[in-house]
Amino acid sequence: MSGVQFILCGAILGILFPYFLHVAVAKSTDPSEVHALSAIKNSLTDPLNNLADWSNGDPCTSNWTGLVCVSMPNDGYLHVQELQLLKLNLSGTLAPELGLLSHLTILGFMWNKISGSIPREIGNITSLKLLLLNGNQLSGSLPEEIGYLSNLDRLQIDENQISGPIPKSFGNLSRVKHLHMNNNSLSGQIPHELSQLPILFHLLVDNNNLSGYLPSEFAELPSLKILQLDHNNFSGSSIPASYGNISTLLKLSLRNCGLQGSIPDLSKIPHLAYLDLSSNQLNGPLPSYKLSIDMTTINLSHNSLSGSIPTNFSGFPKLQRLSLQNNLLNGSVPSSIWQDITFGGNNTLFLDFENNSLTSIPDAFDPPANVTVLLYGNPVCANTKQPDMVRYCQPQGDKQTSGSSTNSNKNCSPCPTDKTYEYNPLSPIPCLCAVPLGVGYRLKSPGISDFRPYIADFETDLTFLLHLFLYQLHIDRYIWEAGPRLNMYLKFYPDNSSLFNISEILRIRSMLAGWEITLSDTFGPYELLNFTLGSYEIPNTSKSGLSKGAVVGILLGAIAGAGTLSTLVTFLIMRRHSRNQVASKRRSLSKFSVKVDGVKYFTFEEMALATNNFSDSTQVGQGGYGKVYKGILEDGTLVAIKRAEEGSLQGSKEFSTEIELLSRLHHRNLVSLAGYCDEQDEQMLVYEFMPNGTLRDHLSATKSKEPLSFAMRLRIALGSARGILYLHSEADPPIYHRDIKASNILLDAKFNAKVADFGLSRLAPVPDVEGTVPGHVSTVVKGTPGYLDPEYFLTHKLTDKSDVYSLGVVFLELSTGMRPILHGKNIVREVSMICQSGMMFSIIDNRMGSYPSECIEKFVSLALRCCQDETDARPSMLEVVRELECIWRMTPEADATPSESMATDSGKIFTPSSSSVSRNQYVSSNASGSDLVSSGFPLITPR
Ligand SMILES: *[C@@H]1O[C@H](CO)[C@@H](O)[C@H](O)[C@H]1NC(C)=O
Ligand SMILES: *[C@@H]1O[C@H](CO)[C@@H](O)[C@H](O)[C@H]1NC(C)=O
Ligand SMILES: *[C@@H]1O[C@H](CO)[C@@H](O)[C@H](O)[C@H]1NC(C)=O
Ligand SMILES: *[C@@H]1O[C@H](CO)[C@@H](O)[C@H](O)[C@H]1NC(C)=O
Ligand SMILES: *[C@@H]1O[C@H](CO)[C@@H](O)[C@H](O)[C@H]1NC(C)=O
Repeated sequence: MSGVQFILCGAILGILFPYFLHVAVAKSTDPSEVHALSAIKNSLTDPLNNLADWSNGDPCTSNWTGLVCVSMPNDGYLHVQELQLLKLNLSGTLAPELGLLSHLTILGFMWNKISGSIPREIGNITSLKLLLLNGNQLSGSLPEEIGYLSNLDRLQIDENQISGPIPKSFGNLSRVKHLHMNNNSLSGQIPHELSQLPILFHLLVDNNNLSGYLPSEFAELPSLKILQLDHNNFSGSSIPASYGNISTLLKLSLRNCGLQGSIPDLSKIPHLAYLDLSSNQLNGPLPSYKLSIDMTTINLSHNSLSGSIPTNFSGFPKLQRLSLQNNLLNGSVPSSIWQDITFGGNNTLFLDFENNSLTSIPDAFDPPANVTVLLYGNPVCANTKQPDMVRYCQPQGDKQTSGSSTNSNKNCSPCPTDKTYEYNPLSPIPCLCAVPLGVGYRLKSPGISDFRPYIADFETDLTFLLHLFLYQLHIDRYIWEAGPRLNMYLKFYPDNSSLFNISEILRIRSMLAGWEITLSDTFGPYELLNFTLGSYEIPNTSKSGLSKGAVVGILLGAIAGAGTLSTLVTFLIMRRHSRNQVASKRRSLSKFSVKVDGVKYFTFEEMALATNNFSDSTQVGQGGYGKVYKGILEDGTLVAIKRAEEGSLQGSKEFSTEIELLSRLHHRNLVSLAGYCDEQDEQMLVYEFMPNGTLRDHLSATKSKEPLSFAMRLRIALGSARGILYLHSEADPPIYHRDIKASNILLDAKFNAKVADFGLSRLAPVPDVEGTVPGHVSTVVKGTPGYLDPEYFLTHKLTDKSDVYSLGVVFLELSTGMRPILHGKNIVREVSMICQSGMMFSIIDNRMGSYPSECIEKFVSLALRCCQDETDARPSMLEVVRELECIWRMTPEADATPSESMATDSGKIFTPSSSSVSRNQYVSSNASGSDLVSSGFPLITPR
C-alpha cells in the first residue's frame, strides 16, 4: 500500500476544501494507463493467450490478468499499482509506455521470454519498489534512469543477456536492499558509487564480464550481508584489505575472478559464515588468524596457497565443508578440524585436501563416521603404511546432495481424483486428501553448503513467517544447482481441510511474490519460480460434495496459475474500493479531518449498532484518549473499537497517526486496523479483536488467567520482537514505536503476540539529500515510566535502541512476572542486581511451571543486554530476533511441536474486569506529558 493519502486538516482545511469537492466516485482506470497497457500488450507476444482478458473493457474494473489497482482520492481514477505476470510464456518486448504507469509499486515479468532492452522510461516510475525482470532474454544495456528510482527496494534483472556497464547512477538508489544482477553480460568496472547505498543487503553480480578492480570503498557499505561476484574477470587485482572491515558480512563469494595476492585478514567479521575464494591465483599461506565461529563453508581450492594447514583451522562448530584441494599445501593432515562439531542428526563434514603436497598424518587419525576426508593426489597416500588410508586416498568427485520425499500412504484408500488430490504426508488427520499449492522456490545465495541439517530450521522459519502450521509445508524435493543455488519444490497444504479458501491462497501468494517475508540470514535471498494449485483438473461438484465457492476457487486458481490469481486480487481490491467510494462521499460531509485510502470507513450508526449504543457492558478497556469497546459488526466480525474522548486535539493527532501508520503496515505481529469512523465530532478506530487481551493481564498474578508457560512466553517475546523489527527495518520509512509495554502487546486466540497502539510512533529519520541518515529523531520525551530508555530521557534523542530498551523491560516482566516499577523499585536494576549475586533463578516467575534453565538464563541475559544504559551496548532489534530464534530452537517445544500449535485455542474473552490495569497504565502515561502536539508529528501530504 503506497500512496496512502493522509491529510490533517485543522488549520489548512480552507486550503484543501476545493480538493474535497473533487472527490469523484472512482470508476475507471486512468486513461493514460489504459493507453499504456494496450501498448504493453501490443509489444508482447502471448502464444498461450494468457492475456486474453486484456482486451475486454476497462483494465481495473474488468479484472485484467496480473493487475492490482488502487484509487486515488485526488483524481477520481483507478491506477495500476501492481503489474505481475509471472511465468506466462510471454515473448516480445517491453513497451516504453510502461513509464506511464506512474503509480506502480511492483513491476514483474519474471520467467518469461521477453527480449529487447529495458525501456529507460521505467525510470519515471518513482513509486516503484520492486522491479522484477529476472529470467527473460533481455539485452542491451542498463538505462541510467533506473538509478533515479528513489523508492526502489529490490532490483532483480538476473538471468538475462544484459550487457554494458552498471550505471554509476545506481549509487543513488538510497532505498535499495537487493541488487540481483547475476548471470548477464555486464562489463566494465564496478562503479565505486555503489558503496554509497545505505541499506544494501545483497549484491549479487556473479556470472558477468565485469573487469577492472574490486572497489575498496565497499567497506563503507553499512549493511552489506552478501557480496557475490563469482565468475567475473578482475585479473591482476587483489582482494582489498578493507573487506576485512565489512563487519555485517555473512557471505563473501569471489570464485573464479582472476584475483591475485594473499587472503586479507577477515577475522574481524564476526558472523562470516560462507567464504568462497576458489579458482583464483591467490598465494601465500592459509589464514593463521581465527575466522568467525559461524563458518559453514570455506572454499579456498584451486589457488596457489602454500605452507601447512594451521592447527587453528578448528573451532568451527557449524562447519560443513572445507575445500583446500589443488593448492601447494604441505606438512601434516590436520586432525583437529572436527573436534568442535557435534555430529548429531544429519551433520556431515566434507574435507577436501586432494592434489596438495601433504606428507604425513597424525598417529591418531580417526575421523568420525560423518567426516569425509579426501587425500587423493598427496604424497601421504604413497608414503603411509597404514592400511585404512586407502579409503581416504580414492579419487572422488564433489558430491552435491539433493533430496526428495515420496508422498505415499499405503494404508489409505486412493484420493478422489489422483491428479488433483494428494495425501498430506504430515497432516495430523490420517489419510486426509487435499489439493496442495505447489511453489517453485529457490535460494539464490545460501549461506550453507549442506541443506540436510537445516531443513527443520527452514521449515520452521518459512511456516512461521507465512503464519502456517509446520505440517502444512512439505518439501517435495530439492536439488543444488550451479551458483550454488538451492532449487526446491514446496507444497503447501490447507490446514486440516481438503481445500484452501481463496483468500488464503492470495495471502500466501502475495507474501511470497511481494517479498514480504525475510528468512533467516542463513538461507539468503529467495526467489519464486512458479506458483500452481493442484493439477489442472476440476473435480466434479456433485460427486465430491464440495461447496460451490471451493470449486470456483480451484477452477480460478488452476486455469492460469499466476495470472488468474492476480485477477482475484484485483477483484478483492475492487470490492474494497467500492466501499471506499461511499466513504469518500461521506467523509466530504464530515466536519474534518482525516482521509486515508484503502482503509474501511464506518458510519457512526454502524458503530453504535455494533456496541449496543456504546453500552458499558461492551466496554473492555480504557485507552490513552478514550474508551475501548468490543463490537460485533453486521457480518458477525468481532472488533475492538477505540472511541476518542470529545474535543481532544491530542486525540486527533494520535488518531491520524495511527490510521496513517496502520493502513500501510501489515505484519502478523502487528495489530491490524479494520477501519475507522470520523463523523459527528466522533473519531473511532476499529481493530481486529484480540480475544486474549493484553500480555500485562496474563502476567499479573491477581488475574484469574491461565498462567503462560515458558514456551508461550518465549514465543510472545519472539513475535513482539519480529513485529517491532518490521517497524524498524521493513516499514518505509522506518518507524519507532516509542511506547512498547506489556499492555500494548495483545494476544490473539492462539496467543500470537501483536504489537498495538501506534499513537506515539515516530517515523524514523530518512536520508537527507546528501544521503546521510541522522541517527536519531529529537523529540519531546513520551512513553511510559518504567519502560523509558534512560538515554532518550536524558538526551531526547529517540533511536531504534529506545524500542529495544522497552522491549527488554517486557522480557524481564515475562521472565519474572514483576511489574516494571513496583514500590518504587525499577525492574531493570532489581533483576540485574539479583543476577549479579548469582540468584537469578530465585526471581523467575514460578507460575510458568517447569522450564529449560539454560534457555531462561539466555533469555534473561538478553533482556538485560537490551536494558543497558548505553545505547551502543544494546543489541539491535535484528540481533534480538536472531537470539530469540536461537533460544527457541533450544527448547524442547521447538522439536516437538510446530511453531504455532503450542498455543491453546481456548478463545477466551477479553473481560471488562481486565480494564482496570490498562486504565492505571494509561493514566500514568498521560501524566507524563501532554505535549504531543508540540512534538510536531510530520505531516504527510498527498502525492
Ligand atoms: C470482475 O470479477 C468479479 C468477480 O469475479 C465479477 O463480479 C465482475 O463482474 C468482474 N468484472 C467484469 C467486468 O468481468
Ligand atoms: C519521463 O520523464 C521525463 C521528465 O522527467 C519526461 O520528459 C519524459 O517524457 C517522461 N517519459 C515518459 C515516457 O513518460
Ligand atoms: C551419520 O550420518 C547419518 C546420515 O547421513 C546418520 O544417520 C548417522 O546417525 C550419523 N552418524 C553419526 C555418528 O552421527
Ligand atoms: C535428518 O534427516 C531426516 C531426513 O531428511 C529427517 O527425517 C530427520 O528429522 C533429520 N534429523 C535431524 C536431527 O534433523
Ligand atoms: C515449478 O518449479 C519447480 C522447481 O524448480 C519445478 O520442479 C516444477 O517443475 C515447476 N513447475 C511448473 C509447473 O513449472
